Amino acid sequence: MDNKTVYLNGQYLPLNEAKVSVLDRGFLFGDGIYEVIPSYYGHLFHFQDHLTRLENSLAGIRLANPHTREQWLEILTSLLDASENQYIYLQITRGVAAKRDHAFPETIEPTVFAMCSNIIPFAGRENGVKAVTMDDSRWGFCNIKAITLLGNILHRQEAVDQDCAEAILVKDGMVTEGAASNVFAVIDGILVTPPKGNNILPGITRDVIVEIAAKNNIACREQPITLDALKSAQEIWITSSIREILPVVELDSKAVANGKPGPVFETMDQLFQAYKQSLS
Ligand code: PDD
Repeated sequence: MDNKTVYLNGQYLPLNEAKVSVLDRGFLFGDGIYEVIPSYYGHLFHFQDHLTRLENSLAGIRLANPHTREQWLEILTSLLDASENQYIYLQITRGVAAKRDHAFPETIEPTVFAMCSNIIPFAGRENGVKAVTMDDSRWGFCNIKAITLLGNILHRQEAVDQDCAEAILVKDGMVTEGAASNVFAVIDGILVTPPKGNNILPGITRDVIVEIAAKNNIACREQPITLDALKSAQEIWITSSIREILPVVELDSKAVANGKPGPVFETMDQLFQAYKQSLS
């Protein structure tokens, strides 16, 4: 195990010394939220946007934010190695309660944990990846970045079992998102991504792509995508902080267009990489 330094409840300590009680509500109930924040060239990417989403997730589970934005920045920056492209995993649970009870305890200190890992360039960027569609069986608050990820991991594992990189989820005939990513498609020459709401996580990568498209006159709409429209799309991408933009070249065992990453992806990926560099 990489015995790196991690942050736990006000202390920096080696990973193998970071311990949490078995009575922690994160462990017992999955009662907590998290963030994944990439860092390029030593700068946390869209830090303020990640913090806004963190605040929304905390509000969504009625947990007070234990730190100010300045404190978060200081806590997290101390974990970074500026020579690497990395990401911070930050988790806040409701904390340790004396007895197991579903309802919130009256007085409780949250548990705050953060660690940093290197971003390993994702295989499949060059040639694209395979994805499979399946019914979205997750809960009704997918806009909260909850640590309760059992629905997501079962979907992802089903995709992996079918030799695919991602599960693309569909609710009532409409595409929601990937098991751990947002979805874009090029349909009739227009870049489309499902609108925000309780069915999807408002991805920061997604927002950045929508902004880049607007600035570069790439036609882009936030509107519902039917499963039928996805199946005949010219391009499909999945996006996340760790995978950035990945082209999907095979969906449900059928090639997407000619089975190669498409031209809108090539353009957007170049713009995205240039944008990252411009912030460093
Ligand atoms: N997941 N939708 C879901 C369900 C996700 O889990 C993620 C990211 C995204 C993309 O969000 P962003 O662009 O802000 O990373 C969308 C992270 C990376 C994870 O769980 O590891």
